Amino acid sequence: MNRPLVIGNWKMNLDYVEAVHLIQQIGVVLKNKPLEHVELVVVPPFVDIRSVTSVVDSERVAIEVGAQHANVHEAGAHTGEVSVSMLERLNVKWVLVGHSERRAMYAMTDEIVAQTLRTVVRQGLAAVLCVGEELSIRETEGHNDFVTTQLHAALEGLDERWRPLVTIAYEPVWAIGTGLTATTEQVREMTEHIRTVAASLSLGEARVLYGGSVNAENATALMSEGRVDGFLVGGASLKAESFLTIGQAANDCYDGKR
Ligand code: 13P
Repeated sequence: MNRPLVIGNWKMNLDYVEAVHLIQQIGVVLKNKPLEHVELVVVPPFVDIRSVTSVVDSERVAIEVGAQHANVHEAGAHTGEVSVSMLERLNVKWVLVGHSERRAMYAMTDEIVAQTLRTVVRQGLAAVLCVGEELSIRETEGHNDFVTTQLHAALEGLDERWRPLVTIAYEPVWAIGTGLTATTEQVREMTEHIRTVAASLSLGEARVLYGGSVNAENATALMSEGRVDGFLVGGASLKAESFLTIGQAANDCYDGKR
């Protein structure tokens, strides 16, 4: 089993004052109860990143900071966008690439996802490639093929130097923010499918996460029966207690306690 990774995607929530408050709370809990087996990452809105990394550094919080998106280009006339090197200067270590919300609402095609992933890893940052089908595709049993296509589009031909920087997050669109979690069986099947496709692309070592209405109650079952390497958490990452309970579940599963 790979070392678990639990990522909290704050999406467009929490201004910088609220973000500082949350990361301080997380820091206090982690000081008293470190999660020795789990890598934790928080992914705040761009405008909060500097404040969050300041707290992480000054309080020595055992957590890394990620970004929700980066522009495919390295610099230039792209009003409103943020480059990977700007993120790197802020000590950002992770970037989500191709989250379904960006694919659906901000015109992120498979091609732009593939190019963005390369822009991220070329700078030495870790990319979390998000994949997942919509409900209509799941209902017609097209989910495996759909995810295969997304994986091929993003990862085919990726230089071997960059492969260790790739994590794959399976987030079925129908489970995001809906309270409708995929069953542990659906998660296990898809995780295995993703591992097979990833291996065929020479990415057999990549960690596979699940995201979509993960919470403190379902994390243990999803982790142990779903056989994932961790989670990409939205709503439940906005509170220190639920985020860290999910982290604890991942920690204990790895440790064989659950
Ligand atoms: P929820 O956990 O709120 O369903 O969000 C999942 C997600 O999209 C994380 O990136």
